[in-house]
Amino acid sequence: MNLKTSFLKNRIDADSPNKNIVPVTTLIDNANKLSIGGCSIEDLVLKYDSPLYILDEITLRNSCRAYKKALVKYYPGESLPIYASKANSSIFMSNLVASEGFGLDAVSEGELLTALKGGVPNDKIVFHGNNKSDKEMEFAIKNNIKVIVDNDHDLKRLEEISNSFNRDIEIMIRFTPGIECHTHEYIKTGSLDSKFGFGIESLSKLFEAIRKTKHIKLIGLHAHIGSQIFELDPHNDLGEIMVNVISQAEKFGHNIIELNVGGGLGIKYTEEDDPPSIEEWIKTVSSSIVKACNKKNLNLPILMCEPGRSIVSTAGVTIYKIGSFKEIPGIRTYLSVDGGMSDNPRPITYQSNYSACLVNNPLNNNSKNKYTVAGKHCESGDVLFKELELGDCKTGDLICVFGTGAYNNSMSSNYNRIPKPSTILVCNGEAEIIQRRESPHDLLRYDVLPDRFIKQS
Ligand SMILES: Cc1ncc(COP(=O)(O)O)c(C=O)c1O
Repeated sequence: MNLKTSFLKNRIDADSPNKNIVPVTTLIDNANKLSIGGCSIEDLVLKYDSPLYILDEITLRNSCRAYKKALVKYYPGESLPIYASKANSSIFMSNLVASEGFGLDAVSEGELLTALKGGVPNDKIVFHGNNKSDKEMEFAIKNNIKVIVDNDHDLKRLEEISNSFNRDIEIMIRFTPGIECHTHEYIKTGSLDSKFGFGIESLSKLFEAIRKTKHIKLIGLHAHIGSQIFELDPHNDLGEIMVNVISQAEKFGHNIIELNVGGGLGIKYTEEDDPPSIEEWIKTVSSSIVKACNKKNLNLPILMCEPGRSIVSTAGVTIYKIGSFKEIPGIRTYLSVDGGMSDNPRPITYQSNYSACLVNNPLNNNSKNKYTVAGKHCESGDVLFKELELGDCKTGDLICVFGTGAYNNSMSSNYNRIPKPSTILVCNGEAEIIQRRESPHDLLRYDVLPDRFIKQS
């Protein structure tokens, strides 16, 4: 076999799916057609239409288990991995991560509700956000969900709530440790210039303010230094910084028993990407915390981490149908697909790169055409690939884009009133719907025409 699309043969690491471009169950049959989770992609599109999000259950579970296994192996204290549900939030995802023993991080009432409906125990959910509404805060407190205090505004409101109920509330605080990560600027949150969390220099004042409250119990610290990170050093440094902050908090009488190091482990989107494995990442984080705690003679805190992308990204693919072609001689050939920036806003927002292949000629055996793959939205920048190498293809052929499980569905929109695709779960040859496709009529549900306009028409 002439393997020109080399990423398809690079399925090297079933235990750390973030190191692969494709889901771990991806296969190419004798007829050179693609299948995932034992299901023919072509058959899935015949049944469920396109564009189509597909999630591979085995890849998802392998990722969750890799985190759990590494935590048991490298962290001698208690630990709790928490799924960052912003990466892909659904009742199904909540249910799956809960079944793997994960907690869940939510940043809105919608994500909190989804987690609870999916069966995540409330004591394993944490509530984040730099501008939580009163309604969201009340929802979290009523459901006994731990709030991660991001700023003075959060603290003041929690103090008022706890005083009015005359009841203690346990909190974690989020701070910015001042670590720079070499990822795209828009997805970097750990540096001092960030909208999230307390600046590290303001913590003494904060610890003193919390000490003076009647009912707020500070039990944990949180920091998240960025996303799609390939280096291990920043997380090594983070562990040490966080343990130093535990000591600092203890001087103000706070007993810190939980340390949440956020998420951020990168995944392999293209052949150039080489992220560390889940095991290497957990080993780094764990050893740095254990070492720093030993040095300071501190008890080991419960170690929490919040992976999002590295749990769900590689498990997900998006299938598009090719529509029109436009050749501009000497410049480029546009190939347009039936989705685009509404189902995947990352290329237009972050200039993100992906890998893709034809569903019915994944190994690209016959030629090396280069296409600019455009979405169908009214925006010139709605381009999914600038120069994608594909085999010979025509209108009606299917393209599979890999690594779309995270921050695609969850960041999708209805721009141009385009309905969102359905998501299909595949496992051992079975395919099940976990999110239904929207219809144009669904999009009219919340439109209202005031009575006087109806009378006029
Ligand atoms: C607070 C927090 N935790 C966890 C995550 C998940 O990060 P990732 O998907 O890179 O693992 C994010 C992502 O932005 C975040 O802001």
